Amino acid sequence: MQIFDGKLVAETRRQAIKSRVDEFKRKNGRAPGLAVILVGEDPASQVYVGNKIKACEQVGLTSFEHRLPADTNMAQLKAVIQTLNDNVTVDGILLQLPLPKQLKADEAINWISPSKDADCLTTENLGRLWSGRPLTIPCTPWGVMVILEHYGIDVVGMNSVVVGRSNIVGKPMAHLLVQANATVTVCHSKTRDLSAHTKTADLVVVAAGQPEFLGRGDFKKDAIVIDVGMHRKATSGGKAKLCGDVRLKEIEDTVKAATPVPGGVGPMTITMLLENTLRLAEARSLR
Ligand SMILES: NC(=O)c1ccc[n+]([C@@H]2O[C@H](COP(=O)([O-])OP(=O)(O)OC[C@H]3O[C@@H](n4cnc5c(N)ncnc54)[C@H](OP(=O)(O)O)[C@@H]3O)[C@@H](O)[C@H]2O)c1
Repeated sequence: MQIFDGKLVAETRRQAIKSRVDEFKRKNGRAPGLAVILVGEDPASQVYVGNKIKACEQVGLTSFEHRLPADTNMAQLKAVIQTLNDNVTVDGILLQLPLPKQLKADEAINWISPSKDADCLTTENLGRLWSGRPLTIPCTPWGVMVILEHYGIDVVGMNSVVVGRSNIVGKPMAHLLVQANATVTVCHSKTRDLSAHTKTADLVVVAAGQPEFLGRGDFKKDAIVIDVGMHRKATSGGKAKLCGDVRLKEIEDTVKAATPVPGGVGPMTITMLLENTLRLAEARSLR
C-alpha cells in the first residue's frame, strides 16, 4: 500500500502559496488577511484555531483572532462579523464551528460577506460552486482533490464512493469528483449495506465521523482510500491518540493507496483555507 502523505503535499502547496503571497504583497503593499472567530472554549476548536493562526504566519498572511465568550448572543456575533466585513485589510473570514448551542450557525455563516467567505459555506458561494463558477472551494474536499492530483490519480471515469453527505465535506466532495469526471455514489447513515457500495469502488472517500468503522472486507483490492475522519481516542497509557474512520492497519496489504490519520487530509484542510484567503484577496485587488 502506498501512503498518500498529506503533510508533504501540504508543505509543497504552502510553498507555492507563500510565493503568491509575496507577489501580492509586492503589488498591494500589504499581506492578505484572514480573520478567525472563535466563540467559547471548546478545546478541539482552540487547537484548530491555533493551528490556523500558525499556518497564516508560515505563508506570510496576516491573521486577526477574535475570541468571544461562550455566552455571546446572535446580535453580538453579527456585530463582530459586520465589523470584519467592513475592514478592508480582512480578505477572508472564518467562523470556527461548532458554535455554542444558543447560536444558529446557518444564519451566522450567511452574515459573512460571500466575497470574504474563506470556508465556502455561505449559500451564495455554495451556489457558485454548484453552478461551476466557484469563488472559494470547501477546504477539506479541495484538499482531497489536491492530494489525488499530487499523486497522479486520474479520476476520470473512476467508480467512486463518498461516505457522508455533510455540507462541509461529503456533498462538496461528491461535487468536486463529478466536476473532475468521476462517477460518484454518495452513501450516508440510511444507506443499505454500505459495504456493498464501498467494496465495488476504485476510490472511496470516507467522511462519516465514525471512529475506525471501515476496515478489511469493506474495500476492493487495489482501491484508493481517503480517510477524512478525525477522532481523539484514549489509549491505555491515558494519552489521547488521533484516529480516522478507517482501520488502516487492516487494509495495508490489499488496497493500492490510502491517507493516514494523522498526516493525511488534516494538513490539507488548513492549507486550502490559506489558498482560499489568497484567492479572495487577489479577486478583491482586481476589482
Ligand atoms: N481532516 C480534516 O481536516 C477534517 C475536516 C472536516 C471534518 N473532518 C472529520 O470528518 C468526519 C466527517 O465530518 P463531517 O463534518 O462531514 O461530519 P457530519 O456532519 O457528522 O456528517 C457525517 C456524515 O456521515 C454519515 N454517516 C454517519 N454514520 C454513518 C454510517 N454508519 N454509515 C454511513 N454514513 C454515515 C452521516 O449521514 P446522515 O447524513 O444520514 O446523518 C453524515 O452525512 C468527522 O470525523 C470530522 O471530524 C476532518
